[in-house]
Amino acid sequence: MNATTLNAPSSRRYGLFVCVMAALAGLLFGLDIGVISGALPFIAKEYALSDTLQEWIVSSMMVGAAFGAVGAGWLSWRMGRRYSLGLAAVMFVAGSVWSALAGSPESLIGARLLLGLAVGVASFTAPLYLSEIAPRQVRGAMISAYQLMITVGILGAFLSNIGLSYIGSWRWMLGVIAIPAVLFLLGVLALPDSPRWLLQRKGEKEARTVLTRLLGSAEEVDVEVREINAQLAQPAQGWKLFRTSTNFRRSIVLGATLQILQQLTGINVVMYYAPRIFGLAGFATHEQQLWCTVIVGLVNVLATFGAIALVDRWGRKPILYVGCATMAMGMGTLGWLLHAGIAGGASQVLAVSMLLVFIAGFAMSAGPLVWILCSEIQPMQGRDFGIAISTFVNWAANMIVAATFLSLLSSIGESHTFILYALLNIIFACVVYLFVPETRGVSLEHIERNLMAGQRLRELGAKV
Ligand code: BGC
Repeated sequence: MNATTLNAPSSRRYGLFVCVMAALAGLLFGLDIGVISGALPFIAKEYALSDTLQEWIVSSMMVGAAFGAVGAGWLSWRMGRRYSLGLAAVMFVAGSVWSALAGSPESLIGARLLLGLAVGVASFTAPLYLSEIAPRQVRGAMISAYQLMITVGILGAFLSNIGLSYIGSWRWMLGVIAIPAVLFLLGVLALPDSPRWLLQRKGEKEARTVLTRLLGSAEEVDVEVREINAQLAQPAQGWKLFRTSTNFRRSIVLGATLQILQQLTGINVVMYYAPRIFGLAGFATHEQQLWCTVIVGLVNVLATFGAIALVDRWGRKPILYVGCATMAMGMGTLGWLLHAGIAGGASQVLAVSMLLVFIAGFAMSAGPLVWILCSEIQPMQGRDFGIAISTFVNWAANMIVAATFLSLLSSIGESHTFILYALLNIIFACVVYLFVPETRGVSLEHIERNLMAGQRLRELGAKV
């Protein structure tokens, strides 16, 4: 948006409300990621599950999410961002209730697929909506707030897992998520559609009404409407643009690459297998492992605040460099410790600290920034399509990383596995240097003009 300031306090409050509501989608995303590590052992015990069925219960959500993200591209274009978020909310409620009541492992897999669809639709639509509705100068912070909600969701799930593990009820662990899902549903009903989508699909009057509430001043609304209309004058969209425009294909590849690299940092290895990693670091009891996992969740939340504070001040690239270096250091030292042997006391503390250093590095950088960049670099006409592709790639890569970690441990060994992740983080930093643009404070329209004029990817934010 072109607002240099949000004018009236009431429009500022309204903008904030809208952003918080949309970011709640992230909370549900996080809850569903975090809940399974605690629930699985109980489900496995109750149904005497084979490893394969357990893997299916975990990964069915990611399969659903990958498809949900793709479907959401079409959905949010046809029905608007608001209805897409509403549909995600309904699926969150239904999926949570279904998983709590599931009478067999197969039924649970069905419920997790549905939840996955919800997560996929939400993880596509919420950042897109936020990037379209947030004023330019706080756009980064708003999407970071969405990531913050993801991390709060993960932490919430870890905590609820511990609490409910004492009564041993996986049904409650999974079912309790229906409560925030209902709140989200209620919140979505109060959201406006994004002005960009309204201008594209409905007409100027509706768009102006929303913009006036968000921006306050008539002048700013005029400027905004003019900018968006200028872009909409170019006819192609999505798939068609992909086929015809090399420039668009470049932004698609960049978005997909960023999402692959985000997953190759190893973040979800820690999210899904943290208790096991703490086992490797010498924490023997299940309880110790679960509590250490909560600390991981906490650091994940706290470090995300760092990203929120810095993203629109330092800019995207410096934060990514610091984050990649920190993650590489955490993973590399952990790998080295596992090689040297962790023998109680100091080395155990160092191993845990390194895992936390890694998490902090991710949460202050790649976690929020990849979602931010993916929503910023796509041109308006292909934005839905572009973000759908990158979100799909995020989930597919997530699934691959989660499904290969245990095999990596047994084939190349624990220490080499972590060293491999350290190297991947260094590669991430090199890709940032070579291809990622600095988009801080630059309008989406400006980024688009540069992209479509054939400007190099790393120069997309440059003033020309
Ligand atoms: C990633 C997720 C990850 C989460 C952890 C997100 O940005 O896309 O895969 O589980 O961060 O906080």
